Amino acid sequence: MDLGLKGKKAIVTGGTRGIGAAVVAKLLEEGASVAFCARREEEVAARVKEWTDAGYRVFGDVVDVRQPAGYLGWLDKARNDLGGVDIFVPNVSGGAGQGEEGWQVAFEVDLLATVRGCESLLAHMVQGGSGAIVVLASIAGLEAMGAPSPYNTVKAGLIAYASQLGDLAAQHGVRVNTVSPGPIHVDNGFWGDVQRSQPETYQSVAERHPFKRLGTVEEVANCVAFLASPAASWVARTNMIIDGGFTRRIQF
Ligand SMILES: NC(=O)c1ccc[n+]([C@@H]2O[C@H](COP(=O)([O-])OP(=O)(O)OC[C@H]3O[C@@H](n4cnc5c(N)ncnc54)[C@H](OP(=O)(O)O)[C@@H]3O)[C@@H](O)[C@H]2O)c1
Repeated sequence: MDLGLKGKKAIVTGGTRGIGAAVVAKLLEEGASVAFCARREEEVAARVKEWTDAGYRVFGDVVDVRQPAGYLGWLDKARNDLGGVDIFVPNVSGGAGQGEEGWQVAFEVDLLATVRGCESLLAHMVQGGSGAIVVLASIAGLEAMGAPSPYNTVKAGLIAYASQLGDLAAQHGVRVNTVSPGPIHVDNGFWGDVQRSQPETYQSVAERHPFKRLGTVEEVANCVAFLASPAASWVARTNMIIDGGFTRRIQF
């Protein structure tokens, strides 16, 4: 199936590792041009070299999405580099911090950076009469999981925000959707760390999946690329759960 991504222009936050890097790679493979950001200069440079050497049209910049001026400036630069924008994937999360600082990070990095990015880019998509936004949420926002936490709370907030934004955006030809992954193995990320430091916890989480394993970043990237593509032209305001059947609720 041709997703219709050839020639599309995509902006992805957090594109050097994990799900974000897999999303960038998938969009590039499908023929899109991509601008991405992350905070670590050497990782941004390495990814730009890897993907440019592979013949793709890619732009990478060192940006912290928590810093509004630099972040909004980068979104303008990315749009200029690409020559427009068709797709936005706000992927960065502040992680699973707790306490006052955890709430602050979750609000500023997960929620506010997504809202700022959508508001900045949506105007340009509306002008062109089309576009797609795919927001990274989590199953942590869907079910009660342990103690109340900033991460779970802002992920639930992102799903509500994207659904309401999608209602408005659809009237201008722009589709907004959310994906909610379950536990996804990122070797140099959260679950890779758990596997090394608490192997029995990792194994018990794997066993709780009907398929007895965690998901892969490619499995999430495939869904994000589909939702971002013209092949998903009739999919708007949905929240796609990508967890191999890990969550138990019946979805209506
Ligand atoms: N992995 C999972 O099990 C899972 C499950 C459900 C949902 N999710 C969601 O999926 C998304 C990606 O998760 P992941 O596990 O792939 O994360 P990850 O492995 O920690 O990767 C995060 C990426 O974002 C960049 N980044 C982090 N903070 C940033 C900031 N303030 N500004 C700019 N870039 C930043 C990182 O590079 P630098 O550190 O160099 O900035 C890296 O490229 C998140 O929204 C997460 O909540 C993940």
